[in-house]
Amino acid sequence: MTGAANLTEPSNYGAAAAEQAARYVKERAGAAWRRPVAGIVLGSGLGGLADRIEDALRIPFSHVPGFPVVTVAGHAGQLLVGSLGGQPVVALAGRFHMYEGHEAALAAFPVRVLHALGAPVYLASNAAGGVRRTFSPGDLMVIADHLNLMFRNPLIGSAEPGDERFPDMSDPYDRGLRALLHAAGAAVQVPLQEGVYCGLLGPTYETPAEVRMLERLGVDAVGMSTVPEVIVARALGMRVAAVSCITNAAAGLSPTPLDHHEVMDAGRSVAPRFEALVTEFVRRLPAVSG
Ligand code: HPA
Repeated sequence: MTGAANLTEPSNYGAAAAEQAARYVKERAGAAWRRPVAGIVLGSGLGGLADRIEDALRIPFSHVPGFPVVTVAGHAGQLLVGSLGGQPVVALAGRFHMYEGHEAALAAFPVRVLHALGAPVYLASNAAGGVRRTFSPGDLMVIADHLNLMFRNPLIGSAEPGDERFPDMSDPYDRGLRALLHAAGAAVQVPLQEGVYCGLLGPTYETPAEVRMLERLGVDAVGMSTVPEVIVARALGMRVAAVSCITNAAAGLSPTPLDHHEVMDAGRSVAPRFEALVTEFVRRLPAVSG
């Protein structure tokens, strides 16, 4: 068959595969396993948070059942199990982007695994271009809402067991968790912006005309990830929080062309503030049992 996959086939990136991956992770953690207060995905340039995770068990993505074998050098990801801010967490340093050719369901699969591991909260982070003209590189933005201009949805196909078929998206980024991010930011003196994130497929950066369009649509920051993950997290009933690291002014808003290396460097310069914020946020999350 060519074209669309048979929509009644079980997904390779569905609930059963996530359960299998979760079993493997728990087995590796052994007696040290504790249900996480949050599952965290670390965006481009923000992987340094992994070094703040205490008593960390590091599992290469290639060992996790169901994760694809990715051959691009320098993008090898790791799943970490450990403690942050005195609380148990699971973090993924690295993600699967749709611009790499992955389908939306795979881009969101790690979130299914975090859910299967018992995380009630999903915390996403990403690098993004600033569309709001008052944003500067190095700003951190709490995502208040998103625009899905990837025109893909990871829930297409038969509903996975445990998924809401028609998830409500009227409050995708949990109000209480947003307030908690702001409280954590204030406590560690990390100023935070708040705004709307727009997910595009990439891998090209936007044209200036596209950025002007996004500006008119009410977008504050633009990136190439996160949206499929948040959709799946909401379908599973997880509470979602997300932070964008503004690495550059979006195309056309600054006289210099966009350069991936500069984008990554900006991510690294904001890393200490990002790490302080996330550590304090996790410290303030409600404890979980089990
Ligand atoms: N556009 C899209 N994705 C990005 C950008 C951008 O300007 N910067 C970092 N990720």
